[in-house]
Amino acid sequence: MAVKRKPLVAGNWKMNGLPGSVRELKAMLAGLSKDAEKGLGPACEVWVCPPATLLATFAPLVRGSAIHLGGQDCHPKASGAHTGDLSAEMLKEAGAHAVIVGHSERRQDHCETDAVVKAKVEASRRAGLVAIVCVGETEAQRDSGLTQKIVETQLQGSLPEGAKGTDTVIAYEPVWAIGTGRTPTPADVVAVHAAIRARLVERFGPEGEKIRVLYGGSVKPSNAAELLTLEGVDGALVGGASLIAKDFLEIARVYKTKPKGKVKS
Ligand code: PGA
Repeated sequence: MAVKRKPLVAGNWKMNGLPGSVRELKAMLAGLSKDAEKGLGPACEVWVCPPATLLATFAPLVRGSAIHLGGQDCHPKASGAHTGDLSAEMLKEAGAHAVIVGHSERRQDHCETDAVVKAKVEASRRAGLVAIVCVGETEAQRDSGLTQKIVETQLQGSLPEGAKGTDTVIAYEPVWAIGTGRTPTPADVVAVHAAIRARLVERFGPEGEKIRVLYGGSVKPSNAAELLTLEGVDGALVGGASLIAKDFLEIARVYKTKPKGKVKS
């Protein structure tokens, strides 16, 4: 029997957000509770990953609500002489439920290898956070027909043994689709998600069926209904559009209606 995975829409605010951004968070909370009053309660989980400086401010506001918070990165160690870094334990203490690791911007800007990402996933598990592990090919790799090979290599190297549906989420984010307004074709998304699922099941057995696989890269209200209902897509990691409550809610609301028109690979 097919395993049911609860869809997840996670917002990655990146290096955006000052205390005034609490307005957007409040608007998201208000929108979600209005939906709930109408009996429409979110049919997906909604996570917001603001800059770490806002976690402690946001934490009391989301307590008991439909929103969970996440960090955007963590150091592999729990504490120590690592100037400027934050540990998974610190994020947890500040109110995080999850943490994004191995985002392509970190892989590029901070030369993070799969081994480093794996150590961060282990740290997030140690701290009791859910790791959102990002993988995805560059445009040159895609043009050379290497998409699946790259994604499978990243997946193999970035995930420690024993990954479970409760501690791990994968985000497939083609690097060339991030912040560009461009997206892969539905058939391409379905094919990569199917390859990811196959590798997860091969390595983690039945738990591999429970790990959610999100799509990320230029998800916005106008394309969310198509992308988020594709076969094998369990939700989205949303960058730019997650900064605006109205847009982010519109994306999450895709899961209010029954997905139709699934694309088969
Ligand atoms: P984008 O970013 O939605 O702005 O393309 C996605 C991401 O980087 O997670």
